[in-house]
Amino acid sequence: MVLMSLFLSNYESNLGRDGDNRKTVGSTTKELVKLLLQRRYTVHATVRSLDDPNKTQHLLALDGAKERLSLFEANLTEEGSFESAVNGCECVFHMATPVIPSVSVSDPKAKLIDPAVKGTLNVLKSAAKVSSLKRVVLTSSMSAVMFRVEPREFGAVVDETCYGIRFRRPWSPSAQFPTELPGFREMIGEGKVVCVTGASGFIASWLVKLLLQRGYTVHATVRSLDDPKKTQHLRALDGAPERLSLFEANLGEEGSFESAVNGCQCVFHTASPVIFSVSDPKAQLLDPAVKGTLNVLKSAAKVPSLKRVVLTSSIAAVLVGVKPPEFGAVVDETWFSDPETCEQKELWYPLSKTLAEDAAVKFSENNGLELVVINPGFVIGPILQPTINITSKGFIGLIETGKEVFPDGIYRLVDVRDVANAHILAFENPEASGRYIMVADVNHSSDIMKIVNQGYPAFEYSERYKDSKYEGTPPFFVSRTRAESLGVQFTTVEVSIKDTVESLKERKLLSF
Ligand SMILES: NC(=O)c1ccc[n+]([C@@H]2O[C@H](COP(=O)([O-])OP(=O)(O)OC[C@H]3O[C@@H](n4cnc5c(N)ncnc54)[C@H](OP(=O)(O)O)[C@@H]3O)[C@@H](O)[C@H]2O)c1
Repeated sequence: MVLMSLFLSNYESNLGRDGDNRKTVGSTTKELVKLLLQRRYTVHATVRSLDDPNKTQHLLALDGAKERLSLFEANLTEEGSFESAVNGCECVFHMATPVIPSVSVSDPKAKLIDPAVKGTLNVLKSAAKVSSLKRVVLTSSMSAVMFRVEPREFGAVVDETCYGIRFRRPWSPSAQFPTELPGFREMIGEGKVVCVTGASGFIASWLVKLLLQRGYTVHATVRSLDDPKKTQHLRALDGAPERLSLFEANLGEEGSFESAVNGCQCVFHTASPVIFSVSDPKAQLLDPAVKGTLNVLKSAAKVPSLKRVVLTSSIAAVLVGVKPPEFGAVVDETWFSDPETCEQKELWYPLSKTLAEDAAVKFSENNGLELVVINPGFVIGPILQPTINITSKGFIGLIETGKEVFPDGIYRLVDVRDVANAHILAFENPEASGRYIMVADVNHSSDIMKIVNQGYPAFEYSERYKDSKYEGTPPFFVSRTRAESLGVQFTTVEVSIKDTVESLKERKLLSF
């Protein structure tokens, strides 16, 4: 029993899995299978004969076996016989080996050495072909440590640097055990399928790009597959031909996300209308945000492979309190916007985000879905999609005279690349939970103007800031603590602003 849990933690501590996640693993022995099933893994277990009830019944009787255990016939000495068992697995626990005391073996090569050595290579060869595979955990033995030509000195301490055979290259005592396969961090998503809703949007396009970069297979939803402006830039991303599938889905159509979420481990729900002036708030904003979110979550809740939903909420669901933040206050994830205040002030977009987040949290609690929420501030940064989104338009408005989209005032800036990255970290980090505000810095719009002007002195300083009374001290701060605990390293506002300007200039949306 102790030996089994040692192997389990070996695998899990380094990959950081979470108790409720479902993964597929391969190989054998009752105690290990029992623990894996208890932890909600899907297990492919190999036995030598499926017809021998003595070898199968105790496994089939385990809790969870009916739903998540499949038995396969495989023999160490039959080349390729493990192939179907390891297929689709993230880990192979290779425990199968003959355990017979050497004294009672008449033909050690046939009975012990070949099944152990060739059999192990047989399993590893099959495992090496599996694209989803992250790691093999091999059950070796103290016997592979202890026996050597020279007897050990009295009082010697035997450790992992000792080998049973002399020609083996020893690890130095201080060397760390290799904990990751080469390139594992970079291609952490290999073999994993995730869904991004509203994929053609500003934030989601970056999210799809980064997910593909990390090896994920992405199911991306757009409103219309026939509109090249919403699809071409996604299809052109690195990795897209091999690992991106586009699906048509609309927040207002019940069940329309069903095929996109099918088979996914995570749904990144970013789709939501981002509109600030509306004639019919319910139809244009509230229903797509709230009912649309529930529509997506209902489909997600039916997916057995699903581990987590990451919802794109907003700082708009944080900041609109009954009273504005006091001077010097630090706004954090314990702050919630007040729907009544939003409604009274006709702040329909904040209301849509507040109600959608609240509905998502309640639905997830009631339906056993794991939900992590990202609350970005005002998102800027380079644009990937061909049509300009509202905050990028707003950014132009803040620095160009006569193009006002948003009023002068305080902005909670954050880079789109950091926001996309935070979504991925919120899925990959098993400890992630609750909300994560994403705000790099709090700046007045005249600060933004100043930074642009410093980088591009030829750019005319907007008239509207000539008489700005802003002193440079923001009236409140926004906490970065939780976002940083997730692993986010914020891009500086100066770099984000410069990259935004460059991107807008490249698209001829800024003319200097
Ligand atoms: N930009 C920001 O500063 C900011 C800050 C905080 C939170 N957010 C949140 O981040 C998410 C993405 O925003 P964004 O800035 O990337 O804006 P965006 O470019 O306008 O993206 C919004 C996405 O939602 C999709 N969508 C809207 N209504 C839909 C519907 N009825 N059915 C299906 N899809 C629909 C849009 O599809 P179409 O392309 O077909 O319209 C688009 O792909 C939103 O949830 C937004 O509230 C944004």
